Amino acid sequence: MSRLPEGFLWGGATAANQLEGAYLEGGKGLSTVDVVPAGKDRFPVALGKMKMFECDENHYYPSHEAIDFYHNYKEDIALFGEMGFKTFRLSLAWSRIFPNGDDETPNEEGLKFYEDIFDECLKYGIEPLVTITHFDVPMNLVKTVGSWRSRKMVGYYERLCTTIFMRYKDKVKYWLTFNEINMLLHLPFMGAGLVFEEGDDVEAIKYQAAHHQLIASAKATKIAHEINPNFKIGCMLAAGNTYANTCAPEDVWKSMEKDRENYFFIDVQSRGEYPNYAKKMLEKLNINIKMENGDLELLKENTVDFISFSYYSSRLTSADPEINAQTEGNVFATLKNPHLKASEWGWQIDPLGLRITMNAMYDRYQKPLFIVENGLGAVDNPDENGYVEDDYRIEYLREHIKAMKDAVNEDGVELMGYTPWGCIDLVSASTGEMKKRYGFIYVDKDNEGKGTLKRSKKKSFNWYKKVIESNGEIL
Ligand code: BG6
Repeated sequence: MSRLPEGFLWGGATAANQLEGAYLEGGKGLSTVDVVPAGKDRFPVALGKMKMFECDENHYYPSHEAIDFYHNYKEDIALFGEMGFKTFRLSLAWSRIFPNGDDETPNEEGLKFYEDIFDECLKYGIEPLVTITHFDVPMNLVKTVGSWRSRKMVGYYERLCTTIFMRYKDKVKYWLTFNEINMLLHLPFMGAGLVFEEGDDVEAIKYQAAHHQLIASAKATKIAHEINPNFKIGCMLAAGNTYANTCAPEDVWKSMEKDRENYFFIDVQSRGEYPNYAKKMLEKLNINIKMENGDLELLKENTVDFISFSYYSSRLTSADPEINAQTEGNVFATLKNPHLKASEWGWQIDPLGLRITMNAMYDRYQKPLFIVENGLGAVDNPDENGYVEDDYRIEYLREHIKAMKDAVNEDGVELMGYTPWGCIDLVSASTGEMKKRYGFIYVDKDNEGKGTLKRSKKKSFNWYKKVIESNGEIL
């Protein structure tokens, strides 16, 4: 019979800035995501092209209140417990713990907040799965050192990691160093706090910042294993294999190149060295990464324990410039695949693509995988009680879970768990909207920030509960 392993970590995933709100409460400092507005300026700011270092009155900033998990976490975690979650993925807001990023001592109120959350999870038998940074840098570090452009960030990040590993060493076992680390290339401000000036060599800055994050990730892995050898540290990739539009060798070549752009990060984090193709690519771009003595050894000796990733869709590419009908995807747009349907936001739906992606990653790294994001962003229409008949969401998840089970049972891929994105409705990272919903739990709030914030169960809530209860047998 096709079964998932005992102890499979079913759960759900979130991120601090899209969930918590209370953006300046409890001693928290301003962070990059707090100055990314909704509306037409969102992309220019997220790309690092438009400077927004403070909030102003002309914009609406969705992270400020988000869904106010800060004041509702007990109720929300109780609902996760009711669904039978084995794990809950959340991220820490760096500036809640070190409000300026470079503080000598941490903010006790921030540390206590996360400690209470972990205790609340453990009460229901839920293992926290913690992303150390999810699109989040204290703004002070952007202003003073230019964020991840600077090597100094490695030290600040190290301090954060030592603090949280020590404090939570008996409560948290699973850690992810950087959410979607490859997002740095595509949304440099959102992903890494990078802002560009006229005349900057943008590519060189991005790859230097990437080196700093890779070093920081290896250091975190080292410190983690020293503090608690049972810790499991993962990297995190915005995944989704790139298909070639035709069997023309040029198309196939292009698709391989596209995948390498993203795999580059995980190749370093998992295999411990810059791959030759990346060295050649940097050479061609005339980019000379500044390294310190010991960097290469550090990377080699501190590779991750597992590979986590988000999967929403496959991608498509062509070497023929005439073929250019694009559709939206998880931040980077892709060519439209005529064989696939798409969500209301144009993200194409490809369950088999998940199986393909899992196999490609497992073949490449031979380490356990963890699907830490997957799901359908859709408009929900609740009745007067907040009940949503979200069969479309159930359908999406069912097909992806089937594909995931095939990868495990038919192909032998090792998989630790599955945490669908936005298990409770939250703010969309790409658009800043509330109406792009992923949750099993509906939250009464609209794009303009109006609503009671009341939580209610959607149809998918009980469906997912049964999926977990039966360890994926009843779909
Ligand atoms: C991933 C991010 O890119 O996709 C999440 O890690 C994000 O933060 C998720 O929310 C879904 O994207 P969106 O744009 O629909 O919120």
